[in-house]
Amino acid sequence: LFAGTTDFLKGVVAMNGLPDPDRMEVCFAGRSNVGKSTLINALTGRKGLARASNTPGRTQEINFFTVAESHYLVDLPGYGYANAPLAVVEKWQRLLKNYLSGRATLRRAFVLIDARHGVKDVDEEIMKLLDRAAVTFQCVLTKADKVKLQDREKVLDQTRKALSKHPAAYPELVLTSSEKGDGIETLRSIIYGLE
Ligand code: GTP
Ligand code: MG
Repeated sequence: LFAGTTDFLKGVVAMNGLPDPDRMEVCFAGRSNVGKSTLINALTGRKGLARASNTPGRTQEINFFTVAESHYLVDLPGYGYANAPLAVVEKWQRLLKNYLSGRATLRRAFVLIDARHGVKDVDEEIMKLLDRAAVTFQCVLTKADKVKLQDREKVLDQTRKALSKHPAAYPELVLTSSEKGDGIETLRSIIYGLE
């Protein structure tokens, strides 16, 4: 699937700009700077595809990428802290929430959690929204390369505990490092296996 053609389709700033819901899609949600765009680059093997940077609030549109003409990968603006004016942030947060609760072809939302920090209140808020919208979501722990081996179990446990409260949560966690490649093949096969 990912060996095929991956391309940037469009950046969307309002609900009426979304592409036709004519194929399955998965999206990547998470706090600003958690590594959403970088993960898309790692999954597709194309470093500059989704724009990433160390400045929280890098992605300000909903970016659609086509994979093998059968899937959309969707890179979302981050939530939580962002380095942008409040009015702008509020506009894209509204768009993010509307998208997450109203997209018929959204097959799974990957909720990214920084493995150093675990699940935060803002993550819980998004998970509740996904519960209400009945969108299955799965947590992906990011930046595993920054966490010592002995601390990984702790964050995995904390995340499992948080997920147990959410009816829309898919229980399997994926621990990833876009830097080192951990979990990338696993995540590819999860996406590939979605019907
Ligand atoms: P917004 O678009 O602002 O919401 O952020 P984002 O979630 O898309 O984060 P982005 O992919 O831009 O990455 C933020 C920073 O984290 C960048 O400096 C990345 O290089 C870094 N980063 C992302 N993934 C990893 C990882 O697996 N390991 C390490 N060490 N750094 C990472
Ligand atoms: Mg981004």
